[in-house]
Amino acid sequence: MLSLHPAKKLSFNRSISNGDLVIVYERHDIMKAVTVCEGSVLQNRFGVFKHSDWIGKPFGSKVFSCKGGFVYLLAPTPELWTLVLNHRTQILYIADISFVIMYLEIVPGCVVLESGTGSGSLTSSLARAVAPSGHVYTFDFHEQRAASARADFERTGLSSLVTVQVRDIQGEGFPDDLTGMADSVFLDLPQPWLAIPAAAKVLRHDGTLCSFSPCIEQVQRTCETLRTRFTGSFVFFFFLPLLYILIFIIYVLFLSL
Ligand SMILES: C[S@@+](CC[C@H](N)C(=O)[O-])C[C@H]1O[C@@H](n2cnc3c(N)ncnc32)[C@H](O)[C@@H]1O
Repeated sequence: MLSLHPAKKLSFNRSISNGDLVIVYERHDIMKAVTVCEGSVLQNRFGVFKHSDWIGKPFGSKVFSCKGGFVYLLAPTPELWTLVLNHRTQILYIADISFVIMYLEIVPGCVVLESGTGSGSLTSSLARAVAPSGHVYTFDFHEQRAASARADFERTGLSSLVTVQVRDIQGEGFPDDLTGMADSVFLDLPQPWLAIPAAAKVLRHDGTLCSFSPCIEQVQRTCETLRTRFTGSFVFFFFLPLLYILIFIIYVLFLSL
């Protein structure tokens, strides 16, 4: 997804190699992540596609099956990964992710702490935003989710930018060795107010915090806790025309010590 090896730096001209992750694009709502393996085939309604035919072709190529059907082979990006990843939890999507990264002022070199990791949708974009010299520490108390996220980051080539740890952030807070290290903290937790004191401890002076909650009661409690330690609050309401109206509220606050 984001190779940091100097010989394989991100390039739209890079050719597909054996072992690469590609996004097989049928149409905007049918895509699949596939690891290229010489000798393997992909079978779908358009026919059988030999992986060996893909090797050496540039990312973005249109490739054909034995019976003349076609798909496109796209280079994996965090935007595409969010659309193809295995959903182990609710996830953040591109509209919210871009907003969060912008308002948290995340740039290359930043250290970002996140909890919970969930399906790693936001984490992938955080990793690209902090690359090549920053780092994302992401925490989830669910062991299997943390293990799956770790495996995903290996697969997408982001593992050198992300550390996944199993930890109950609401109960234990963030690890002591990260005290004062974080440029930003992002919380997507059921009781985020319990993690606010821990977030204040790990943030640098003028660090930013975003808490993402679907319920107004969660937001109210989080705000009450935030007011004791933070200044400069923004509240953003998102009205999503889903089956029912869901309100997402994001608070971005600046730690004031
Ligand atoms: C909605 S998901 C996060 C989704 C993630 N933002 C994404 O975009 O993929 C919430 C996650 O928080 C984790 N979680 C809940 N309580 C937690 C706690 N006390 N400490 C750490 N993780 C927790 C859950 O296991 C779950 O994986």
